[in-house]
Order: sequence, then structure tokens, then C-alpha cells
Amino acid sequence: AESGSKASNGNSKSASVRVGSSGKPLHTTLAGAPVSDDNNSVTVGQSGHLLFEDVHLFEKQARLNRERVPERFVHAKGAGAHGYFEVTKDVSNLCKAKFLSEPGKRTPVFARFSSVAAERGFTDLARDVRGFAVKFYTEEGNWDMTGNNTPVFWVRDPLKFPDFVHSQKRNPKTNAKDPNAFWDFLSLVPESMHQLLITFSPRGVPATYRNMNGYGSHTFKWVNKERKAHWVKFHLVTEHGIKNLTHEEAVSLSGSKPDYATEDLLTSIEEGNFPAWKFYVQVMPLEDAPKYKWDPFDLTKVWLHKDYPLMEVGRLVLDRNVENYHAEVEQAAFSPGSFVPGIEASPDRILQSRLFAYDDAARYRIGTNFHDVPINKPIVKVQTYSRDGAMVVSDNGGSKPNYYPNSYDNLPQNDPTQPDVHPHEGGTVGRFPPRKWEEQDDYEQPRMLWKLMSEEDKEQTVSNIANHIRGAAEFIQERQMGLFRKCDGDLASRIEKKLAEKKKSPEPYTMIA
Ligand code: HEM
Repeated sequence: AESGSKASNGNSKSASVRVGSSGKPLHTTLAGAPVSDDNNSVTVGQSGHLLFEDVHLFEKQARLNRERVPERFVHAKGAGAHGYFEVTKDVSNLCKAKFLSEPGKRTPVFARFSSVAAERGFTDLARDVRGFAVKFYTEEGNWDMTGNNTPVFWVRDPLKFPDFVHSQKRNPKTNAKDPNAFWDFLSLVPESMHQLLITFSPRGVPATYRNMNGYGSHTFKWVNKERKAHWVKFHLVTEHGIKNLTHEEAVSLSGSKPDYATEDLLTSIEEGNFPAWKFYVQVMPLEDAPKYKWDPFDLTKVWLHKDYPLMEVGRLVLDRNVENYHAEVEQAAFSPGSFVPGIEASPDRILQSRLFAYDDAARYRIGTNFHDVPINKPIVKVQTYSRDGAMVVSDNGGSKPNYYPNSYDNLPQNDPTQPDVHPHEGGTVGRFPPRKWEEQDDYEQPRMLWKLMSEEDKEQTVSNIANHIRGAAEFIQERQMGLFRKCDGDLASRIEKKLAEKKKSPEPYTMIA
């Protein structure tokens, strides 16, 4: 593959291999000295105490103690691969990003897929949203499409995000999964209905990472060379068809092959069966936004394809497995705030808060200089006045001045043409509900989704919900049933019926979420 991403994964093999007296590669300490014996610690006599002078023993244990970095607090279980993005249609009239400049142009990428609520060692078969993050190493810096496999989200305001995460993670007392907290939160937050219905539909357990779509989910802004802007949404449509697992299949595979999706990604690439997606955009003229039926910046809503059809842009292909999981996948840090000229943020409240949250998490999880870790390093030179911090491995700006403004033209200067300026809605500062909030309901789009489902999908959705909500307290079940009723009478009565059956059934409660 011409992915070029080899340059960015940092497996430097430049130093020549040292050979020991055996004629084989020499085992060394971390400081590079020869190790004489890695089986026996240094002791006083055959049965005596250990000695501090066995630096190799202590170093080896100390390194083991420090092998883990904090796992991601969400999206901890994941798998990644390298590949490329190729432009297939000319979209330069809409976006000036150089990596999109002409059909045929390829850009190296690194993608990471994940489940959200699960810990790093959890099964891949959870009923949960899947993360779909792609880092594009472009000639204008990294562009990260840090998306999911669903086009909407559970909440529309970032203030609710930490609570939402707590409600889907482990109970603070028991450290067990807690269907009660899960439904307590959702039944108090009706805006979750759209994401809820998708998660409990068959799409809630994708069979593999290859058999699901990816979505930028938020509305973003594309700007062209003439500075004309459009609102856009990104879609990655799998070339391998959507495939899902039923609740029963997921429960069974969780026991026998908990790393199912991870292994599928590895083997499909190894066998040359490269995972691929078509990249599309929906494009909305800026002036449509205030007139559209739904608030186009509300992350619990989609834009209907009939209103804004999918336009082809390119193709994403993953063709190279990682060599080292920790270096390339665990240390990968994506951020919705990593933009390149031509791609900008929208006023979507969730997006705005994500612009800050991710690099902040990376600074905690990996360290201040996480941008210099090879997997995160742009393929173009970073020219900044930011310096120092723990573990500097770059030239750290060398001997040049570390302040701006300065009097030296050979030092990095600002580019006043970036970013493009467009009018934003102004107003009084306050804590307001989003625009159109009063006119909209949280049930219209999920009702449309329910009506679109095949009979088989409806059956599975009802059964998955009844199965899961059975673990919540009665009064919470009733409150959530009230929301289902507001969404669709048919949906509600079928869940009610199924729940009554499940309550009577001797089958054990199973939930993988
Ligand atoms: C991971 C915050 C919503 C997709 C993360 C991380 C943070 C975060 C801080 C990094 C965790 C770490 O490294 O320890 C938030 C906040 C959200 C939000 C504050 C809402 C207010 C979303 C949405 C999407 C999304 C709407 C998709 C459209 C992802 C993905 C990852 C992630 C894919 C994992 C990236 C990787 O593979 O490393 N989130 N998130 N998140 N988030 Fe979000």
C-alpha cells in the first residue's frame, strides 16, 4: 500500500543490531549494557538474599509496574489499523482542504474502532455504540474524524455527558454493570430516545468493525477557496454490507471469542481482504440552517437523505495491521479539534465541548508531549513556540527563541488568512435551551426510524429492550414506558407485552452492555 503511514508509526530500526559472544543478538539493560543471565537473580550464595546491585532485576520489575497508561475513560476497548484515503470525486468547489484537492489523491490514515462503555479487557460483543476514529495525515496537518457508528448521540448538551457516562459504566458501590442506573438516566432524558432505539435495534451489536458504517455525526463546516461555506455531515458507508449479531449470538460469542471484532480486523487485513468504506457528505447551504425542519446542530437529529442526499467524496481502505499495539493503538490520540484549513466546527454544543476534551484527556493519559509520539505526529513539520514538559523527544525548538511576537523573520509567523471568518449567531450570554427546542419533540425521528424497520428488526429491538430494562426498578421501567408511549403506541405496547413475558420466563437475565 502507498499508505505512507510507515513514516508515522515510528518503528525506527536505524541502529544496527549488536551481537553478543553467542553470535546472536545481544540482550541488554535499558541503559544498553550486556545482560549476563536473565534466569537467575544475583544472590549471596545459592540460597542467600538478593542484592541491590542486580540493577537488571529491579529495572525489569520497575518497568513492569509501569507498563500501563491509564485506559481511555470511554472507548477503552479497541483495535486499529493503517491505510489510506483516496479522493474519488472532485469536491474542490466545496472544500479547499488540500488532501481533497483532486480525484486520485491519496492520504495516509490510521483508524481506531472501539466500544464505548466497556473497559480495555471487555468483550467486543457489547450492545453499545462503536467508535470510528480516523486520523488523516495530511500535508496541512492532521485531520481527525473522531466519529461513531451512529449518526446521532444520547444527549444534546455536554453538561449531561459525564452523568450519561457514569450511568452506563459500573455502579460505584458494587462495581457491577447497573441496568437500573442505565434506565434511570435515560428515562429522565427523553432526548436519548433516538440513540436508544438505534442501540437496541440489531445495529446495536455490529458483527465486526468492517460491517458497520461510520459517521462524523456532528454538523461541520466546509469552506472553499473563495471562502464560501456550507454545513456538512460525514458518512462512511461500508463496502462489505451491514452485518449485526442477535442478542443470543452476542452472548454466546462473548464467552467463546470475546475479541471477535479485533481478530476479524487483523485476519481480514492479513488475508488481503482490506476493509473499505465509501466516504460521502451531506451538504447544506448555510442559509438553509435556520429554515430546516430540525435544528441542524442538534446531535440527537439526522438530516434526512431525501432533503440532503449523500454525495460521494472518496474511499477509505485499511491495508496494514499495526506492529505494536501499545505504541500505535493505545498511544493514539484523536481529537475532533484537529482540523485542517477548509474544515471547521459548527455551533453543535456537543462538538464545541469535544474540541477541548480530547487533547485534555491525551495530556493526562499519555503526557504533555503526546503529539510527538510517532502515531500522533503529523507528517508535516510542526513549528510552534510551545516547549518542554515531560519526555521531550523532538528537538524542542532547538536554540531558537521561545516567544512570539519576536523580531526574527526566519521564525514561525502567523498566517492571517486562517481560519476563515463567517458570521456567527450573537446574543446575550446565558444558559439557554437550544434553538427550536420548544418546537421540536424528541420522538419524531425515532418514530420515523421505528416505522422504517423491517418486522424482524422490530421484533429484535423490542426483545432487546425488554431483556435489558428487566434489570431496572419497576418505577423506572414505568417512567421509560411513558417515553416509549409518547414515541409510538405500537412500539410501547409491544415492549410492554414482551417485558411481561420475560418477567414470567425462567430464562436468566443476560445483558452485555
Ligand atoms: C473518546 C469526550 C461524545 C466519539 C473520547 C475521549 C474524550 C471524549 C475525552 C478520550 C478519552 C481518553 O483518551 O481517555 C467526549 C465528550 C463528548 C463525547 C465530552 C460529548 C459531550 C462523542 C461523540 C462521538 C465520540 C458524539 C462520535 C460522534 C469518540 C471516539 C473516541 C472518544 C471514537 C475514541 C477515540 C479513540 O479511538 O481513541 N471522548 N466524547 N464521542 N469519543 Fe468521545
